Amino acid sequence: AIPVITIDGPTASGKGTVACRVAAVLGWHVLDSGALYRLTALTCIKRGIGIHQVGQIADAAAYLDVVFKGDEILMHGQDVTAAIRQEAVGEFASRVAALEPVRAALLARQREFRQAPGLVADGRDMGTVVFPDAHLKVFLIASARARAERRYKQLIEKGFSANIDEISRDLEARDARDSQRLHAPLTPAQDALRLDSSALDVDQTVNQVLDWYKD
Ligand code: CDP
Repeated sequence: AIPVITIDGPTASGKGTVACRVAAVLGWHVLDSGALYRLTALTCIKRGIGIHQVGQIADAAAYLDVVFKGDEILMHGQDVTAAIRQEAVGEFASRVAALEPVRAALLARQREFRQAPGLVADGRDMGTVVFPDAHLKVFLIASARARAERRYKQLIEKGFSANIDEISRDLEARDARDSQRLHAPLTPAQDALRLDSSALDVDQTVNQVLDWYKD
């Protein structure tokens, strides 16, 4: 089977950065599964679809017209790379992600990313639901403080205004929702290796993942 490395963990734990770097070193493809939930959320926000309109949200997920082009994400040909990173979109994404029909609608699409020579997939349920047969499963964590600081920097760099206390509260609310939901809650796969990146920089974290993969 085509090899897969899964990197799951809570919000702002650095999964995305680590996944991209590991994929670059190995020359593999990368799946940012959170982007699919964010794209679904953005579509709903644009169309004025509310959280209780489950059928319409699931349709939005099933019919996402999206192209991943290098670092850019195009929806209906429009560049939405920055738009989906807004906190409001992440917040709504975590609500739509709790809906089973939405998760079901995105499942096959995520598996299509498994292409030779390999895939690094980051998200919440990559190792538990989407790629249970992955060759290496990493559960990446970091302290709430470290995660709030990282998310703050990220937002400022992208030109958004941000408040660290607000971010902290938002991270905690999102973690609680992602871990307590009924469908595919955030929880490490039984065979996942835990990696705490609070005191590690990106290089050190990437190297640990690569070392595990080589073993
Ligand atoms: O950047 P951050 O880690 O906060 O979020 P993300 O990975 O872009 O995902 C946004 C939201 O989508 C999360 O809060 C999760 O609720 C949801 N998600 C999920 O349920 N399953 C995944 N595999 C990926 C994301």
